[in-house]
Amino acid sequence: MSETALNLLLARRSVVANKLGVPGPDAQQLRQILTAAARVPDHKKLVPWRFILFEGGARDAFGQVLADACKSNEPDAGETRLETEAGRFLRAPVVVAVISSPVDNPGAPEWEQVLSAGAACQNLLIAANAAGFSGQWITEWYAYDKQVCAALGLQESERVAGFVYIGTALEKPEERDRPNLDEITLSWTPEGRD
Ligand SMILES: Cc1cc2nc3c(=O)[nH]c(=O)nc-3n(C[C@H](O)[C@H](O)[C@H](O)COP(=O)(O)O)c2cc1C
Repeated sequence: MSETALNLLLARRSVVANKLGVPGPDAQQLRQILTAAARVPDHKKLVPWRFILFEGGARDAFGQVLADACKSNEPDAGETRLETEAGRFLRAPVVVAVISSPVDNPGAPEWEQVLSAGAACQNLLIAANAAGFSGQWITEWYAYDKQVCAALGLQESERVAGFVYIGTALEKPEERDRPNLDEITLSWTPEGRD
């Protein structure tokens, strides 16, 4: 791995969606970012994920889907709440929904196919950072909402792995505490088994 790539990984921070402004990636940059996202480990080469892109007016239109779903779930939701839901995808210039699409395959358990979708989300985020943008991997409530998943055209077997918001950071995020490696890492020894 090049020093640049390692430094990027060592310094990477998400930028919260409402701090992601313009510009977002153009068509060519987005294609490159998605190409990197699709280059993840994939047991049995099943391609158990796909992408749905939201740019321009599609973000606004999808916001209406979110507001409608919110109203179905919470009929008493007020105007302010519905406006918040309608504006969610407007927080960043580009939103990519990463869809986990596992298939039946005796050689690759569903768990592994779901992990591969998670890897696609992370590759997407890292590629966006490497291309000079920032991003955040979000699920919020609508990744799990039946009405929203239907509007996304998901099959019964599919789930949203994440909505990856991409744009230009309006503020540099502060560092946050990271796990103590010594607490989450051990070197296996035969003596340590019992
Ligand atoms: C599957 C998944 C779903 C997430 N969903 C949300 C979310 O809905 N809202 C949120 O604020 N952060 C969510 N996060 C966390 C952010 O992506 C991010 O990791 C967090 O803001 C910490 O920043 P960092 O990536 O710089 O450590 C999610 C992370 C993962 C892996």
